[in-house]
Amino acid sequence: MTQDELKKATAEAALERILPHLEDDMIIGIGTGSTANFFIDALAEHKAKFDGCVASSEASADRLKGHGIPVYDLNSVSSLRFYIDGADETNEHRQLIKGGGAALTREKIVTAVAEEFICIADGSKKVDVLGQFPLPVEVIPMARSYVARELVKLGGDPAYREGVVTDNGNVILDVWNMQITDAVATEEKINQIVGVVTNGLFAARPANVLLLGTENGVETIT
Ligand code: 5RP
Repeated sequence: MTQDELKKATAEAALERILPHLEDDMIIGIGTGSTANFFIDALAEHKAKFDGCVASSEASADRLKGHGIPVYDLNSVSSLRFYIDGADETNEHRQLIKGGGAALTREKIVTAVAEEFICIADGSKKVDVLGQFPLPVEVIPMARSYVARELVKLGGDPAYREGVVTDNGNVILDVWNMQITDAVATEEKINQIVGVVTNGLFAARPANVLLLGTENGVETIT
């Protein structure tokens, strides 16, 4: 199977998982990226069974609206039963690296509100130790060089993601060569650098369920 076929299979498995729980007034959190896009397209066929969505990016909001699915501002929503999103990397503890699509801050905010974060990813995203994928860090533009120097002190090798401005008007540093053996501690340390908005480690709050697309079917890790 191609990587896209594996992504689509995990998106369909996530849909099967939430379908029995959909209710007329339910609002669903939706992530960003190609795997999330497969989920949006599959979810659209069931749009009469729930109220609408909150999106973690303008791109996902546009795709949802294109399917005629209402998109709500998170401030008007008090709870989200589900959040469905992809990942750039995961370990066996469902701790993730996210932000390859630069949507990490809104993704982390929607995750915080959601009761259940279902992560959908193809099997190539699973690693023993996080950090082979460069860790995205969203930074206030004027703090970019300072934050980069602090990230070097933590042992990383930050690279400015040229030409990318996040939906929040900030920039991204991708941190290479981090062997992240204690993901919760690393997430906290990076968050403490002044000028950092968010980092792409989802470790303090990992996914609740990981659906991993493999050649042998979709593996469920809880
Ligand atoms: C966006 C993300 C995505 O979930 C991540 O980049 C995975 O993308 P894809 O599903 O295209 O492989 O964190 O910020």
